Amino acid sequence: MLSRRQFIATSAITAGASLLVPSWSARAASQISAASDDGFMVLEPKPATAPLAGAGRPPVNIWGYQGTVPGPVIRAKRGARIRVRLKNGLSQPTTVHWHGIRISNAMDGVPGLTQDAVEPGKTFDYSFIAPDAGTYWYHSHAKTWEQVARGLYGLLIVDEDTPPKVDRDIAFVADDWLLGKDGQLHEESLGRMMDWSHGGRMGNWLTVNGLTEPEIPVRAGERIRLRCINTANARTMAFSFGKLGAHLIALDGQPVPPEDVTGVKLTLAPAQRADVVVDIQGSPGDKLAISEVSTRHSIEAALFTVTNAPPVRAEAPNEPVTLKPNRAIPLPKTAGAQMIDLVMEGGAMGGLRQGIIDGKMLSIQELVEKKLVWTFNGKAGMQKEPLERIPLGRTAVVNMVNKTAFPHAMHLHGHHFRVIERDGKPVANAPWRDTELVDRNEQVKIAFVADNPGKWLFHCHMLEHVAAGMITRIEVG
Ligand code: C2O
Ligand code: CU
Repeated sequence: MLSRRQFIATSAITAGASLLVPSWSARAASQISAASDDGFMVLEPKPATAPLAGAGRPPVNIWGYQGTVPGPVIRAKRGARIRVRLKNGLSQPTTVHWHGIRISNAMDGVPGLTQDAVEPGKTFDYSFIAPDAGTYWYHSHAKTWEQVARGLYGLLIVDEDTPPKVDRDIAFVADDWLLGKDGQLHEESLGRMMDWSHGGRMGNWLTVNGLTEPEIPVRAGERIRLRCINTANARTMAFSFGKLGAHLIALDGQPVPPEDVTGVKLTLAPAQRADVVVDIQGSPGDKLAISEVSTRHSIEAALFTVTNAPPVRAEAPNEPVTLKPNRAIPLPKTAGAQMIDLVMEGGAMGGLRQGIIDGKMLSIQELVEKKLVWTFNGKAGMQKEPLERIPLGRTAVVNMVNKTAFPHAMHLHGHHFRVIERDGKPVANAPWRDTELVDRNEQVKIAFVADNPGKWLFHCHMLEHVAAGMITRIEVG
């Protein structure tokens, strides 16, 4: 298989598609099939081709919402109702999950838990209010390890009541594809046990907004809000903004005090987001790269090309952009909190010998036959019983202990949490998150207020790991 470095080195890269984040309404006509009379936008996942690999390479067969990858940007004002009619144009059942939204449980899109999977040709209506502003995403939650790998995801942007002043808002949706020698998605390896028991499906081809090293024309003096997300199945990425003046303003959609990240490595585990404001400085013709730097070989992920247009402003603004916090998220009070343990075990080099499924102990051989090779508290995969029942409004503290040889990106549905302790040391004022990376042999305590009633998944967002057992749920109220 070609490595993405070889692949990238040998391809002439030119792609200049517009990467502007369009508004819902601006894109409604072309991207979302016309809204129906009842105000629902039709979102249709279906097979299509996409120019992932760049100019001069054959288009790649993908599955995409509206036939594009990423899918259309769904955008709404904070507090507004979002209405989406999923129309399944695939040959498999599917659902849509609205990742990071404190949604009502019936709309969470988890097949077998909050709804039935939507059969091919059938529809399902999602209608919900997005209570918090920020950068979120939506993706398939059925056979996620295959459907997301094939391209079923898109950005979901909830605008602040008063959006901060920037000149442009640009998507930066990074994905990691596994392409075969023929330049097509490597299908034979989908579901490969080797990936499920190790670090998950790793790609060899990096795209940003579904393009290979896209060039984004920019003007000197421009201030741009980048909506960065890692949509890879399993690869934790890290980005460097190089010479671009950059500051971080939000993580997983939630505002953080502005932090200078110029020349800093910004790590994004699968499903994590970061809003970064970049100030463009330079002369016409300059190319400013954002690079992927998680490995020893940095890869240019996207290029900002300074155009001849007159500068937007003479000097970069010296005030960083600051976002107001989403104040509706209640602060956890850890005194009297419900304490929950979550011990992660299994996987390759994990020495797992057995695991429980609904009270029955299975040997590792029996588990492997079921493709369940990871456990939470000794239990492999979804159980009839939840991890924990939490009364509505009570604070919960989950103590995650990773006893495996791999990092895991733990995601809680329907809530935002804060890390309060790492490896035994208290952590103060950690950012709100919906996905947190727990390194091998690491211990991480998170706290949240269980204020959203329903059945909420808690799982690893490395999609092969969740499929192979790293999944549980809490029940609130
Ligand atoms: Cu983004 Cu249950 O996942
Ligand atoms: Cu994992």
